Amino acid sequence: MNGKDIAASQPRFHGRRKGHRLRQGRQQLVEAKLPSLRLPENLPDDLAGLYKAPISDLWLEIGFGAGEHLAHQAETHPDIGFIGAEPYINGVARLLSSVDAQDLANIRIFDDDARHFLPLLPGASIGRLFLLFSDPWPKTRHHKRRFVNSETLDQFARIMKPGAEFRFASDDVGFVRWTLSAVTARKEFQWTAAGPDDWRKRPADAIPTRYESKALDDGKQCVYLTFKRV
Ligand SMILES: C[S@@+](CC[C@H](N)C(=O)[O-])C[C@H]1O[C@@H](n2cnc3c(N)ncnc32)[C@H](O)[C@@H]1O
Repeated sequence: MNGKDIAASQPRFHGRRKGHRLRQGRQQLVEAKLPSLRLPENLPDDLAGLYKAPISDLWLEIGFGAGEHLAHQAETHPDIGFIGAEPYINGVARLLSSVDAQDLANIRIFDDDARHFLPLLPGASIGRLFLLFSDPWPKTRHHKRRFVNSETLDQFARIMKPGAEFRFASDDVGFVRWTLSAVTARKEFQWTAAGPDDWRKRPADAIPTRYESKALDDGKQCVYLTFKRV
């Protein structure tokens, strides 16, 4: 199946691809940096070849927003190769600013709907997967738009290595329940929480994302779920 067939067979993307017009500096950064950081249409058999320096593992963040969490992870784990998937160009431009400012060499970008990209990844290739404050689509008639569903979980199960982590966070209690029930219903995943602090507290090596900071400022409870690929 080529990229076009995959796009045609996927559900429609309901989010925003563009916000306000990019400032001139950001636009220039997108033009200068994105072509070399964007993933090639045909992924190499050995994904380590996507990075200039050797990598010990490959981690994926889906819907990275402005990319602050992704940039932080990439800076604190220079031996890991990161892939960030985000179709919102203004968010991609912000990540590129961080890549530039922090001189990060271990990030590659898929600037489109991650559902088009997951099937292209080889099996058991991802050591950690982040889905942080993904759109909760709270209305019942929109639940089918949620990123967590049986098709994406099939893909997660396929691409994650045994022992790999899937980290999910949200401030939407309905979406948290939905995800907990959908993921724990599957034999491929195990919820790792041993006590309340494991889901009430952000993992120690993470920083708050933009959405998370807003939610916390609004007095909302955020929930952090970590699942292990068994
Ligand atoms: C609520 S925002 C959260 C952004 C960021 N993770 C944060 O916590 O600040 C959800 C993000 O997911 C992205 N997104 C939505 N659907 C997506 C998809 N199918 N593939 C990749 N990203 C997606 C949106 O563009 C948006 O940036």
